[in-house]
Amino acid sequence: MNKLCETYDNHFKIGAAVNLDTLSHDKELILRHFNTITVENAMKFENAHPQKNTFNFKELDIIANFAREHNIQMRGHTLVWHNQTPDWVFKNDDGNTDVTREELIKIMKDHIEKVMNRYKDVVVAWDVVNEAIEDKKNHLLRESKWLKIIGEDYIEIAYKHAMKIDPHAQLVYNDYSLIDPNKRKKSRKLIDYLRTNGVKIDAIGIQGHWNIKEPKVEKIKDALEYYKNMNLKIHITELDLSVFTENDRRLDLEKPETGMLEMQAEKYSQLFSLFREYHSVIDSVTFWGVSDYYTWLDNFPGKERSTWPLLFDKNGEPKPSFWEVINFNE
Ligand code: GLA
Repeated sequence: MNKLCETYDNHFKIGAAVNLDTLSHDKELILRHFNTITVENAMKFENAHPQKNTFNFKELDIIANFAREHNIQMRGHTLVWHNQTPDWVFKNDDGNTDVTREELIKIMKDHIEKVMNRYKDVVVAWDVVNEAIEDKKNHLLRESKWLKIIGEDYIEIAYKHAMKIDPHAQLVYNDYSLIDPNKRKKSRKLIDYLRTNGVKIDAIGIQGHWNIKEPKVEKIKDALEYYKNMNLKIHITELDLSVFTENDRRLDLEKPETGMLEMQAEKYSQLFSLFREYHSVIDSVTFWGVSDYYTWLDNFPGKERSTWPLLFDKNGEPKPSFWEVINFNE
């Protein structure tokens, strides 16, 4: 069997999100098919920096050393986010009142500095800020504690600091729903503003938590075209195609229904054909997981069920989707 990442050598890198469990359970698959990895959770603020003076780099070190040893590049995910960030970051020691703008800027910069310095030899791209754009119509920025306490320039400060720590790294802005024209426009507004203010943003991270029916590939194409015209590199950052559409909350399937895996294969085929068309601007395509053995989607939104979203099945065997992605003629 050919290696997926080698097959795509002339196009873009092929990545997977990993954790300690999948790193060992799916080790062979990772080593064979992927040339970049993202740490699923351990680099997030609440895990890497759970208390004021406590960093926890145990899991991260193991994964980073694995990457170093096997010459795999990493994506850094993520430094500043409204989710999975512990309360201590925003609160004084009394636990009640908020820290000041200056204090929070210092906490943010320290965090960026510690994490980046430790892994910048192996991390080539950083999702410096994740999901800062508001979904509600008339608001540009999400009303996070970062925004509330620091103000609108928190994003600019974060990127400028990251740029200072590692001027060679690719700095990425990562978000979901970027194929929605309205959200896309907001991302343009944000990135234009940042660039005007001297921030280096190299790439947009388009999260791809999609499913076998939606969104339509043409819509994704519009997004790729849009960001290409903005002179940004593109990272497809969190790709998985659940066999369920968004409103399908069934919990009773013990195996995919007839036709589901074929539909998934067709969708992956269309997607990768599109990605190949845009290979000059796409830097990497990262799946949010390795095989169906473990995927966050099986516990989302709330109940446990299999969603079978990835290229390999629960035993690590290639699914029809895998063959569609690896076999192409162009
Ligand atoms: C977002 C985050 C990811 C991950 C997924 C769900 O997309 O960026 O880190 O938490 O949600 O697992």
